[in-house]
Amino acid sequence: MVVVDGTLGAGGHAREMLRRILPGGKLIAIDRDPAAANAAKALLDAEFPDAKSAGAIRIFNASYRDLPYILQQEKLESVDRILVDLGLSSDQLADRDRGFSFKLGGPLDLRFNPEEGIPASVWIEREKEETIANAIYQYGEERFSRRIAKAICLRRLTDPIKTAEQLTDLIHRCVPGKIHGRVDSATRTFQALRIVVNEELKHLEEALKKFPDLLAIDGRFLAISFHSLEDRLVKNAFRDHPKLERVTKKPVVASPAEEARNPRSRSAKLRVARRFM
Ligand SMILES: C[S@@+](CC[C@H](N)C(=O)[O-])C[C@H]1O[C@@H](n2cnc3c(N)ncnc32)[C@H](O)[C@@H]1O
Repeated sequence: MVVVDGTLGAGGHAREMLRRILPGGKLIAIDRDPAAANAAKALLDAEFPDAKSAGAIRIFNASYRDLPYILQQEKLESVDRILVDLGLSSDQLADRDRGFSFKLGGPLDLRFNPEEGIPASVWIEREKEETIANAIYQYGEERFSRRIAKAICLRRLTDPIKTAEQLTDLIHRCVPGKIHGRVDSATRTFQALRIVVNEELKHLEEALKKFPDLLAIDGRFLAISFHSLEDRLVKNAFRDHPKLERVTKKPVVASPAEEARNPRSRSAKLRVARRFM
């Protein structure tokens, strides 16, 4: 069995898949973040030395949308499983140099691959107020997007926003009520900027179009999403693609016990589709 982990992260899913497909199977694993790809490679190679020597673990620093080229390079015509576990990893969230966590602060970068594209601090420095407002509204579903964009543009006239702390502080001043329920009011704007600088939805849309053709008949496509924008794309693609049928009509969500163990799982939705023709 050949399985693809399109979002390797710390290798948790990859490890579980390897336990089920070895010996005899092969894992293709991909992460856009070079640090994540390298760290997970070291861990998996050490844990599965026989699979490593047999060439059964293949790790790539790329976007999952490049899977068609990766399979060509690996001389594979089709695969049996493809998993994408979208968004960012706990390691990225905890890394102060990346600015993913407004709680930890750090430079306002937000890129999965620090060598690709521009940091979020540069993006908000360059773009028009209207573009910033639209992005925060569209990708963060933030009601106060215009107010936040205006504040960013006023602030940058005298003092460019370079850090996650500066942006968080500015948002807290613009949005009434710092915390809504369990969610900090900065969450939505950070999500929006992360989606923009990484072009996340574009990569996902490309994958949803291309991946069904890469699956063997009866192969499965699994996607875990963490917000409604991603989940909507996955849901529609799994429902409408002519070669796919849904294995899950409703998304699978974490049990209360899992949520208690792993609070980040509370917004995760897993959908599964099968290639039937
Ligand atoms: C939620 S984490 C995955 C965690 C992983 N499933 C595990 O068990 O440790 C998401 C990972 O996907 C990566 N990522 C995000 N967009 C990507 C893309 N377009 N292509 C490849 N990797 C991507 C991020 O860098 C991050 O490491």
